[in-house]
Amino acid sequence: MTSFEDCVVFASKSLGLDFSLKDKQLETLRALYNGHDCVSVMPTGYGKSVIFQCLPWLFQCKRGLQYPLITLVVSPLTSLMQDQVMTLCEKGIKACFLNCEGTHGSTYKLRGEEENDSDDDQDKTDVHASCSTSLIDLQRGAYNIIYAHPETLLNNRNISSMLRSKLYKQRVCAVVIDEVHMVSEWGMSFRKAFKKLSELVCIFPLPDTVHLAMTATATPTAIKELVEDLQFTDTTTITVNPDRPNIKLEIQTRLPNIRKYEKLDELLHPLAQELRDLLSCFPLTIVYINQLEALGYCYQYIEDF
Ligand SMILES: Nc1ncnc2c1ncn2[C@@H]1O[C@H](COP(=O)(O)OP(=O)(O)OP(=O)(O)O)[C@@H](O)[C@H]1O
Ligand SMILES: [Mg+2]
Repeated sequence: MTSFEDCVVFASKSLGLDFSLKDKQLETLRALYNGHDCVSVMPTGYGKSVIFQCLPWLFQCKRGLQYPLITLVVSPLTSLMQDQVMTLCEKGIKACFLNCEGTHGSTYKLRGEEENDSDDDQDKTDVHASCSTSLIDLQRGAYNIIYAHPETLLNNRNISSMLRSKLYKQRVCAVVIDEVHMVSEWGMSFRKAFKKLSELVCIFPLPDTVHLAMTATATPTAIKELVEDLQFTDTTTITVNPDRPNIKLEIQTRLPNIRKYEKLDELLHPLAQELRDLLSCFPLTIVYINQLEALGYCYQYIEDF
């Protein structure tokens, strides 16, 4: 069996990563490599996706296979799936997302991959066209990373029999539930399929398939409930401290106005002054204002300062 370190090198190379993985990304991969289910709680932007994107190659290498395996990713939003599939396709990775009805998948073709294109010099990174992929392609395992809504995976007859096929049973090395806080937020009422995701865990049990749940926000109690809901076994929990010392949050309350918004001036003045002094060195700042009209006032104040 190939060592964990060699498998990580192989997976990073196959995915075309131009950075080294962070400690907690590696810790999650190691737990999965060792056959544990995993819950990873990592802040927004930490790099959760790359962990599960590595898995088809990590397990290919571990098992000494000639072909990459399949990771199934449950995701709550089509736009998230589109973004990730597009980025993966740009790198030549076979990724797609299933439509809600479970009748086909969608992927992206780079301009250079279009059929009658023989011009090797063409820039392959600029334009990608969305294209449909048939159930037949999906059934024969043409995709290594497959994204889908929980409803598609659980409520559709064609997809259900595809998942239970011999090929999928052999090739699905990981089931991933991204944005897993949705299980408790939406599972009871709005999108009940989130509450039934343990079915997927049962179709693809350990040790052949590992299970990974990821989120940016979960308390220890929420994690405990999730593990029970999803029927994870032998679970390792990996958390990253969400504190970002370079981010400052401040709430300012203005005094009641006598004239329209003049009490806002006291809050805006130091901000506008600092902005004028520091110009492009002014720290990246977001000002939330709870009324549209007051927002217009603030904009004009800074503009005229
Ligand atoms: N080890 C790393 N070093 C540098 N950049 C990385 C690393 N891992 C991931 N990234 C980059 O970080 C960015 C954010 O990654 P990603 O979208 O996976 O974050 P996330 O944790 O899923 O955030 P969210 O909670 O918003 O979904 C991506 O551009 C990704 O390529
Ligand atoms: Mg993410």
